[in-house]
Amino acid sequence: MHYYGVAYYPELRTSEQIESDLTLLAEAGMNLIRVGEFAWCELEPAEGIYRFEWLESVVERASSKGIWTVLCTPTAAPPAWLTEQIPDMGYVDSQGRQRPFGSRRHYCYNHPRYRELSSRIAEKLAARFRDHPRVIGYQIDNEMAQEGTGRCRCNLCKRQFHAWLERKYGSIEQLNARWGTVFWGQRYDSFEQINLPVATMEANSIPPIPAFFDNPSLRLDFERFCSQSQIEYMQIQAEALRTFGGPHQTVTTNGTGTGTNSINYFEAFAPMDRYGVDAYPDLRGEDLYAASFEWSLARNVVVSTDNHRFWVLELACGGGHGLWGFEGRLQPYPGAIKQLALHAFSSGAELVTHFQYLQFPYGAEQLNYSILDADGIPRRRYEEVRAAASDLREMADMLERTEIRCDTALLFDYDSLWSLGIKPVHREFTYVAHAREWYSRLLESGIGADVISAEADFDRYAMLIVPSLFVTDCKLQAKLKAYVANGGTLIATFLTSVKNKDNVAHQQSLPAGLTDLFGIHVTEWEPVFERSMATVGIEVKGERRSGPNRYWTESLEQHGAVLTAEYRNTFRQGQGVISSYKYGSGTAHYVGTTIAREAGKEWLVALAEQAGVSIAPFQLPSGVEVIRREGEGETVWVLFNANTCEKEIAIDGMFVRLSDRLPVPNNLRLPAKGYIALVSS
Ligand code: GAL
Repeated sequence: MHYYGVAYYPELRTSEQIESDLTLLAEAGMNLIRVGEFAWCELEPAEGIYRFEWLESVVERASSKGIWTVLCTPTAAPPAWLTEQIPDMGYVDSQGRQRPFGSRRHYCYNHPRYRELSSRIAEKLAARFRDHPRVIGYQIDNEMAQEGTGRCRCNLCKRQFHAWLERKYGSIEQLNARWGTVFWGQRYDSFEQINLPVATMEANSIPPIPAFFDNPSLRLDFERFCSQSQIEYMQIQAEALRTFGGPHQTVTTNGTGTGTNSINYFEAFAPMDRYGVDAYPDLRGEDLYAASFEWSLARNVVVSTDNHRFWVLELACGGGHGLWGFEGRLQPYPGAIKQLALHAFSSGAELVTHFQYLQFPYGAEQLNYSILDADGIPRRRYEEVRAAASDLREMADMLERTEIRCDTALLFDYDSLWSLGIKPVHREFTYVAHAREWYSRLLESGIGADVISAEADFDRYAMLIVPSLFVTDCKLQAKLKAYVANGGTLIATFLTSVKNKDNVAHQQSLPAGLTDLFGIHVTEWEPVFERSMATVGIEVKGERRSGPNRYWTESLEQHGAVLTAEYRNTFRQGQGVISSYKYGSGTAHYVGTTIAREAGKEWLVALAEQAGVSIAPFQLPSGVEVIRREGEGETVWVLFNANTCEKEIAIDGMFVRLSDRLPVPNNLRLPAKGYIALVSS
């Protein structure tokens, strides 16, 4: 079953309006509404007084039109009576300011009383709707950590952080030794002396004292503590929803993928039924790779679910004033909404809801983007979701009987993300952008990939890309070695294995603990700015190609490996920068800098061919992506043209359209924002 719908706010609508809204949704072929995430004051207007009738009536009326519902716990918006009752429950930001009532997300996720009340409203909601066959599940809260609320610094959090550290290190002496607090004379006599870090990498927060350098070990542990605290908060609600909800109801939340960096989603969702994510790609742009990256991660967070399916609880639909004018949200390019929705479904989504149905006339999100403008008249965006619903119905059988099976994966690691954010190596380099760049290069080459955690089973993949795995321990080093020894092809990029799990530098030659795997030592490294840029020459299929490097660069010394790229100029001329080493039955490649786009693609394809990775039989122009889905004896290729102009795709082999089995020419033309599902004839 596939669900396609909208985020809907019936608390803002009259009974007649609700009737016509639901009718319009059903007429568009939509079959889901997601409701309630900010409606606490309507559900529990005073402590212990519950008013669920209005919500029940919406669920019933939707149900009578064939529309399913996802209910949200309303805890992202604690009501006035509650904030008044618990004056110290407010979120405290990096500047020590407590968020007052009057917006949303104004709570500390560690506050015991707030946790209790959150769990109670979740319980009441689930108990009330447990038997409703059309309530398919629950979304916990809304976008935890969003709007700079992922690192609370209240006194309670401080005390709990001390306790967390004490549990982890056992004694202050241990902590001092592992963090190296003797540096700058920071040795602690007790856990109580530890301050919460002043500096922060939280999105939307202003650096409080720019020249204050906290201990990086303290900061990494604080990231972990905040992540785990928020996970605990979600788990408390998940437990209530599971205990009191129905067995047919899915429990999840809406994360923000790699957009918000304060929760380790691999850990957060491990006990949930589905991974849930929100995504706001640019609907006027020509790039689906960023969305693909999120879907590929989404497929691999909750791996126990059938076909690795996930939920997209909010998906962009364009239009409106935009929430923050300076972001410049534009109207969607014609076809972009429809394409994005089908792209998500083809990539493994089981549910997609657009944010949102109708422009808000009130409040902070007044006139924000939506399917319908405030006048409620169906126009272009409405017609597009109607067309998307119709295309989804056509593709539904195929999506049910096929799934995505990748033989390539890219490793995504929160410790490395955090560590590189805490102490950046270059003002333009970010871990996420670097991972995305490698991922895009795979897609451009027709290689589908999963995005996986370090806990995943590497042996399922013929090729594993490991971008800047900055933080490692012996266990992870051994796992990488075993993967290659067993025949895997590993590609690791610069800044690999520089620090340990305490965010302390490994005191070994780099890549620490892995020099025997790669057959090299990194002898020098530096950031790349205009004055340190160099030309890198690389051999691709017997031909020498060259291009400038960016961000970061390393010089490699051979310890058994073959050097396959070298510096062409500067004082590094002749030094190696990419290496390749046979290790056991596999090969480990080390890439000491960035490779120019085209040469990099060809280099990657050559390695993929050697590794036996399956590559799509299409010549993909820039911005065209293909998703391979497989079922019993069947392979379906869904092609997407993200460009705002037609693109011609050279096809290698005989293919027919899935819809009508008509053959397609070998120079297939895909219109702007078009897509097509093909099978071999
Ligand atoms: C999301 C959020 C929604 C709404 C939307 C506006 O991040 O979950 O509630 O604020 O952004 O773009």
